[in-house]
Amino acid sequence: GWTMVNIAEEAIEEVRAQVGDKRAICGLSGGVDSAVAAALVQRAIGPQLTCVFVDHGLLRKGEAEQVEKDFVAATGVNLHVVDAQERFLDALAGVTDPETKRKIIGREFIRVFEEAAREIVGTSAEAVEFLVQGTLYPDVVESGGGTGAANIKSHHNVGGLPEDLQFTLVEPLRTLFKDEVRALGEQLGLPAEIVWRQPFPGPGLGIRIIGAVTRERLDILREADAIAREELTRAGLDREIWQFPVVLLADVRSVGVQGDGRTYGHPVVLRPVTSEDAMTADWARLPYDVLSRISTRITNEVREINRVVVDVTSKPPGTIEWE
Ligand code: XMP
Repeated sequence: GWTMVNIAEEAIEEVRAQVGDKRAICGLSGGVDSAVAAALVQRAIGPQLTCVFVDHGLLRKGEAEQVEKDFVAATGVNLHVVDAQERFLDALAGVTDPETKRKIIGREFIRVFEEAAREIVGTSAEAVEFLVQGTLYPDVVESGGGTGAANIKSHHNVGGLPEDLQFTLVEPLRTLFKDEVRALGEQLGLPAEIVWRQPFPGPGLGIRIIGAVTRERLDILREADAIAREELTRAGLDREIWQFPVVLLADVRSVGVQGDGRTYGHPVVLRPVTSEDAMTADWARLPYDVLSRISTRITNEVREINRVVVDVTSKPPGTIEWE
């Protein structure tokens, strides 16, 4: 029968035929698609591949470590890490408009990636000719389909590279859907935490802070987000929930009381949704006891947060993200 083993082997053969003995680079985002694409190409061409991971400081708790340690352990890939946290924070300083945040993050990402690529190209004896991308079938259809759908949010990916870099694209996932990519990832031996990760936007936590992005706000949100994720996993609901954004209303404060004292902290919004493809979504009816545990833990463990609210808006009219 037609199994993932066949798909993997065929895709590996195709990559070998395309790349030959040349070199390739691949940007890792922390997401499933780029991880599976990289793992597959690693199987095909081994040390001819170098992966680049730009740590922009907008990832969830533990995700940078997952790429730097677990992914490398599972694949043996050559990884080049760029710590660009300062640079992204500087570029985002004082910016509150969602689309401006996206543009800045997308622009900085490309610049940092480009610099890293130049370094790698510069140190290699032979030219790097190929760029690996985790493009899926729905991405191919969406970008080439010409459906005339309005551009509601500008989704950046690593695709918009400047022409002077002149790479040939390797897109080993371009005939696959998300569930097939996950099955392929398992087939390739990637850890479940990477393979079953929920979709996460390229601009990361940068668009889940309503207001300007600062290091302190990122730290607050990362803690709250980690608690929500942990409790969802503990309740065994990971695969039923499409995405579970936690949103920090950084410019809003409300009065609360804790211990003997009045507090004046920030609210976070829980935004769990169910969906098939993110085009439409329904707010997820999380069990009350799960919501209750998340609320209690966040307000106890994250000092700056004194209120937890739940978003009960479907898409449309709401979008999944708040920005
Ligand atoms: P919305 O908020 O429009 O999101 O309902 C639909 C899906 O897209 C993700 N998303 C993004 N992904 N860059 C990305 O790579 C972005 O700027 C971006 N904005 C939203 C969102 O998480 C959801 O899965």
